[in-house]
Amino acid sequence: MKDFYKMQNNARKLLHGADYNPEQWNLDPKILDEDFRLMHQAGFTSVSIGIFSWTKYEPREGCFEFEWMDRLMDRLAKENITAFLATPSASKPMWMSEKYPEVRKVNREGLRERSGGRHNHCPSSLVYRQKVTQINTQLAKRFGNHPALGLWHVGNELGNHLAGECFCSHCLARFRQWLQERYQTLDALTEAWWGHFWNHTITDWEQIDPRDMTIDGMQVDWRRFVSHLHTEFLEIEIAPLKEHSPDILCTNNFMGFCPDFNYHQWSKTLDVISNDSYPNYDGTARTTRTAANTSLEHDLIRALAHNRPWLLMECSPSMVNWMRVNKLKPPHVHRMEVAQAVAHGADGVQYFQWRKGRGGKEKYHGAVVDHDARPDTRVFREVVEVGNMLDDWKGVLGSTTPDSPVAIVYDWESGWALNSSFGIKHPPAPQIGFTDASKELLLDHHWGIWNAGAGCDLIFSDENFATELSKRAIVSAPILHMAEQPVADALLDYVTDGGTLVLTHRSIVVDQSNRVHRGGLPGLGLHEAAGARIEEINSLFEDESVGIRATKTFAEELSGTYQTYEAFGCLHLDDAEVVARYTTGWQSGQPAATRKTHGEGEIWLVAGNFDDNFYNAFYKMLVQRHQLAKVVDITLPMGVHATVRENGETRFIFIINYTPEEKSINIPEGVCDSRAIPLSGSHKLAPFDVCLLQHPV
Ligand code: GAL
Repeated sequence: MKDFYKMQNNARKLLHGADYNPEQWNLDPKILDEDFRLMHQAGFTSVSIGIFSWTKYEPREGCFEFEWMDRLMDRLAKENITAFLATPSASKPMWMSEKYPEVRKVNREGLRERSGGRHNHCPSSLVYRQKVTQINTQLAKRFGNHPALGLWHVGNELGNHLAGECFCSHCLARFRQWLQERYQTLDALTEAWWGHFWNHTITDWEQIDPRDMTIDGMQVDWRRFVSHLHTEFLEIEIAPLKEHSPDILCTNNFMGFCPDFNYHQWSKTLDVISNDSYPNYDGTARTTRTAANTSLEHDLIRALAHNRPWLLMECSPSMVNWMRVNKLKPPHVHRMEVAQAVAHGADGVQYFQWRKGRGGKEKYHGAVVDHDARPDTRVFREVVEVGNMLDDWKGVLGSTTPDSPVAIVYDWESGWALNSSFGIKHPPAPQIGFTDASKELLLDHHWGIWNAGAGCDLIFSDENFATELSKRAIVSAPILHMAEQPVADALLDYVTDGGTLVLTHRSIVVDQSNRVHRGGLPGLGLHEAAGARIEEINSLFEDESVGIRATKTFAEELSGTYQTYEAFGCLHLDDAEVVARYTTGWQSGQPAATRKTHGEGEIWLVAGNFDDNFYNAFYKMLVQRHQLAKVVDITLPMGVHATVRENGETRFIFIINYTPEEKSINIPEGVCDSRAIPLSGSHKLAPFDVCLLQHPV
């Protein structure tokens, strides 16, 4: 396998680079010279190229022109910059769209999309798949052994348009076929989809239309199928690359918590996991909360990478151009953002984009090089600083994050179930898109865990579930909404053996067909073990809330009063201990959270969407009760966060100030900074400052 961290001069470095589109400038030699001069100043090691270049390679069907890329690759080799060469499937040539209309997606209304835009090919189109195989074969044969090639960047943000959906007759036929394989008979399908409701009894496979949002079981199957189509597509992309360049690893850049696709499934087809991340880091006090959310996203990517190093393939060195309000990042925030990714296991950071184009939709999107092409800009200077920091930190390369005693269970199917079920607080989106009803609750629980300081891993309810559970003292499953008996049994065994499990009003509610478990919730034996069940769930208007207060036993650990928002469960108590009660409204006095020992362990049932203060106090209490060591033995002020990476010899401690205020920490004896200079005593962290400490393991 080619080591893509290894530059041609054999140095192994944390990667620093960007999406690079010199074809937009017709590979103007003057601009190229300027680009490479500036890239070296910025400490660049790598660039992603050729992402949207299909027409440049194949201006007319079957007529290929690769010489321009030969020259660019040769130049990159000479400049000692590694190429992440893309396959160009993320946008298709106009001639192809015209000649083969079937490669264009059909939208929900049944209309075939026009040629333009991007990411809008039909994922099942046989013509498109054949064209992808052809161009990828040519690329792999021509560049597979090129010294500049480090990594195949397969497509770009696969599926990123209309939630990956296409409603053409071919996709629909494939869906029906997929369902036949899954269910075999229409009776089984009817049973799974609760088909006697509203006459939704399918009597012929041809009647199936995934646009009917009222069949909630079908919605989950549709998402499964769309994910599956894209897995197939990825495999088709990768096959020729592997055939002709078996030593080159493949990646596709994920979109974080994208609710549309099962990245857990996709990750199995990829060698390297990479992600695109665009947190709205505006430098206000909100930054701390955004930092916690972003940390969770990084932890998700790290989990998909099986805790091996991953790549931040895209982030913006300044602003983006697609948010409602596109804020610049204040000074030092960009360095903080990059440090955060490395602190969570990334071994490289790239930007979108190297240079702003003069035209097109992204001409005002942040870039390392602005239209003035000057190095004396604030953004360029900060990128140079980041380059220097990554160079200083090269010792970190290849190190990994030790397992955390606290974990959150995550899966995509639960999100699909929640998002397609009517009656929860958020009404389901007209199509399952970026409105994600489950994410807020996940982020809230994580916020509490993040502040408790003992670290956090994401784990999946897959074949390694029991092993992953067994490594943890505390497991939180706030949005594990969909589960079958083996998953519930693994949770019960975990608790019986001494684990602490946190469940909510959204946990263990439906089976794999989105049908509610019978006999009380959380289902499948969990509410019996928890000693309490969620009897009803009430929703709240935006300006409404209900108070909560801890019972006497817990009053010291959960001091003060807290609020609910959005939704809360009314608990029916069996034999659990009450941890907190509602204090206002007609539910006043009823339990809001409970605890019960089960075997050697315990289950905490936290029945609603509670406020941040509650989660902070709650997880602090759990961490203290378990006497879990903090990630670092340093008292960290609020908003300053630490993570650790290790490589067998050295322990790297990343301390990041995610606040706009100066903070100070007390560094113990025996640690050094990233240049191995001993450091101890009081240390000031400027706003958004970062600090890397290390000591032998
Ligand atoms: C990503 C995409 C890039 C660029 C970027 C802008 O989603 O992969 O090509 O469009 O967003 O933020």
